[in-house]
Amino acid sequence: MKKWLSFLFAIALMTLVLAACGGDEESSQESGEETSGETEGSDSESSGDVTTITFAAQSDDTPATKAAIEEFNNSQDQYKVEWTQMTNDSAQMHDQLLTSLSSEAGEYDVLSLDVVWAGEFAGAGYLEPIDMMMDDAGLKIDDFNAGSMKSGNYKGKQYTLPYFPDVGLLFFRSDIVSDEDAEKLISGDYTYEELGEMAERYASENDISNGFVYQSKQYEGLTVNANEFTNQFEDVESGLQTMYDFTTADWTPDDILNYAEGEASTAFENGNAVFERNWPYIYGRLKNPEESGATVDVENVEAAPLPNGGSVGGWLLGINANSDVKEGAWEFIQFLAGPDGQKILSTEGSYLPGYNPLLEDQEVLDSNELLNMEGFQNALQSTIARPVSADYSEISNEIQVAVHKYLSSGEGLDNAVQTIEDATSEEE
Ligand code: GLC
Repeated sequence: MKKWLSFLFAIALMTLVLAACGGDEESSQESGEETSGETEGSDSESSGDVTTITFAAQSDDTPATKAAIEEFNNSQDQYKVEWTQMTNDSAQMHDQLLTSLSSEAGEYDVLSLDVVWAGEFAGAGYLEPIDMMMDDAGLKIDDFNAGSMKSGNYKGKQYTLPYFPDVGLLFFRSDIVSDEDAEKLISGDYTYEELGEMAERYASENDISNGFVYQSKQYEGLTVNANEFTNQFEDVESGLQTMYDFTTADWTPDDILNYAEGEASTAFENGNAVFERNWPYIYGRLKNPEESGATVDVENVEAAPLPNGGSVGGWLLGINANSDVKEGAWEFIQFLAGPDGQKILSTEGSYLPGYNPLLEDQEVLDSNELLNMEGFQNALQSTIARPVSADYSEISNEIQVAVHKYLSSGEGLDNAVQTIEDATSEEE
């Protein structure tokens, strides 16, 4: 990538993700299911002088998080990070973490937090502020992804560093889609209706079971997809109707209402879909067929903006205020959010780097082809935010229930529209 282009790219990423991301609002608390998760890396027990740091994070579809933890563990002999792998369902993980944190347990030292609920955790006092630690370590806020930093800033205090920023993308099979259509998709100048027409045509011409796969299960990903179909909840009625048309179309899976990120990526990477809506790290799975089992050649996959723009997402790293190994937790966060950890995440997992200088790092640009794609860069120009609210989890839950009910039955459109209008008018 030319220097000026990567510079523009860095600016675009910072400003657009900043513009679209949630801020430092206080959110409601919820508690829910029991905490669960498998612990990775507990084979060698912490002994003698080695202090164990427990990292509560969602499982990773790519080899990146595991590689980064190994690198940290091998880089020093004072600490050993153990990864408690949690669910990939954001809302469920939210409840699992709250169950643990609200009992003032220090069971997890480092927490991975979805950008949409970091403010809530900080407001509830579950996170340790990191401003002083950043100062002492000489870390500058501007070196990190602006939107992610803003999401982890509550009442002027910084609580988190970025784990990875996210943006919703359309992935498509460049060996199937014509050059003309590819150009149109990459420009972002197309509608969901046109996407549906292409999905139908290419699936039937190529005898592929699905034209388009995306997320419609009743969970946080449904709020994300409804946000995109309805153009940030501006065209609610027509957006939901289009979603219903897609749900009942014969070129989407019969069980699309049970599709989360995993189901969509499995269908696409095994050649069972022409188009897929997903997050950047999916590219990392395609690049690692030995691990993911992907049969579609990554060379035949391109990225493009979604018709109304992609939702901003991402995850943050915070320290449990009740941890008794805060120093070690901070050491690990600095590593994972800093140049070394972020380089591993970006090169091995195709994650967007949250540490800005890496956006101009040749090794990162050479190994993360996604960052160089025109369609990806265009996608960064049209990002959209989910509702920003003190009660985000509650609002999102109401949206998920109403939308899923409508999509399942074709009934209750008015109710879904009203629910969304009420919920989003509570925005701050
Ligand atoms: C991704 C995004 C996160 C979003 C979730 C929804 O993990 O990074 O922000 O809430 O998907 O499924």
